[in-house]
Amino acid sequence: MVSYKDLGLVNTREMFKKAIEGGYAIPAFNFNNMEQMQAIISACVECSSPVILQVSSGARKYANQTLLRYMAQGAVEYAKELGKNIPIVLHLDHGNSFELCKNCIDMGFSSVMIDGSHLPYDENVALTKQVVDYAHQFDVTVEGELGVLAGVEDEVSSEVAHYTRPEEVVDFVTKTGVDSLAISIGTSHGANKFKPEQCTRNEEGILLPPPLRFDILEAIEEQLPGFPIVLHGSSSVPQEYVKIINTHGGALKDAVGIPEEQLRKAAKSAVCKINIDSDGRLAMTAMVRKVFVDNPAEFDPRKYLGPARDELKKLYMHKCENVLGSAGRVE
Ligand code: G3H
Ligand code: 13P
Ligand code: ZN
Repeated sequence: MVSYKDLGLVNTREMFKKAIEGGYAIPAFNFNNMEQMQAIISACVECSSPVILQVSSGARKYANQTLLRYMAQGAVEYAKELGKNIPIVLHLDHGNSFELCKNCIDMGFSSVMIDGSHLPYDENVALTKQVVDYAHQFDVTVEGELGVLAGVEDEVSSEVAHYTRPEEVVDFVTKTGVDSLAISIGTSHGANKFKPEQCTRNEEGILLPPPLRFDILEAIEEQLPGFPIVLHGSSSVPQEYVKIINTHGGALKDAVGIPEEQLRKAAKSAVCKINIDSDGRLAMTAMVRKVFVDNPAEFDPRKYLGPARDELKKLYMHKCENVLGSAGRVE
């Protein structure tokens, strides 16, 4: 058993309290490898932002759970070396079982998500409570989810997505004891968040997605005043990256995300954690494709992963400074 406290990590409690009071959101960036980790930490140190490092089940399989945990421990030291002791959370993204959550808690995670959103309500309550009861013994914070996000990655069509029901949130939070709640108000995972027929097109033919359901968010806030709310599926799918990818041998069709303007508005509310993964994937892919096309003889991974890492850092700083408002929040 390793305590996250001994690794220099923090849980989300204090971070979320400050974010709600300050009207901003904490970035939750997924990482699977060293370049992503370097970009996240150097960006957040440079703009003085607290940060949540997210590890999905897929990341654990890809990179090895032990390596990822040591990388998070290394991130704390790396941040200090770069000159700022920013608060860093190590969070399990979309945990799907008690055993997985327990395993992460036992190896030093400071926060876990138990995603029972696809289960019948009572089963979601029971599973989430089981994780909370274990996690809280070690002062680890827990994110639950109510409502189902649609998305290509989930193999769920947009039609079967269902929004969070504001009338359920008080009961869920009271019965489970969760520290934060992920909700469904129209975001979705991946780079193709909406079907073209759900969108309108502007004069340049760019797809404009349907707006988020701020009415549902407001109803949830009325039920749970000051309670930390989480938004998954919050990549904006920058069209400049889609263009670079598609003009350098890629084939991304109808890629569309959540407009930054809407995320800015959400960040000012009780939404205090915003999850971003796909935008980082797009930034890296765009740069790697560009190097391969511009320099076909290049075969040193540092020469294509380096530019990808630099672009990622730029993207993360932009998110903190211009979208989430988390920049400059660490003394
Ligand atoms: O919400 C899912 C995250 O983007 C992680 O994706 O399961 O492919 O690692 P992944
Ligand atoms: P995106 O696919 O929109 O980046 O969402 C990531 C996410 O929700 C991770 O849990
Ligand atoms: Zn998610």
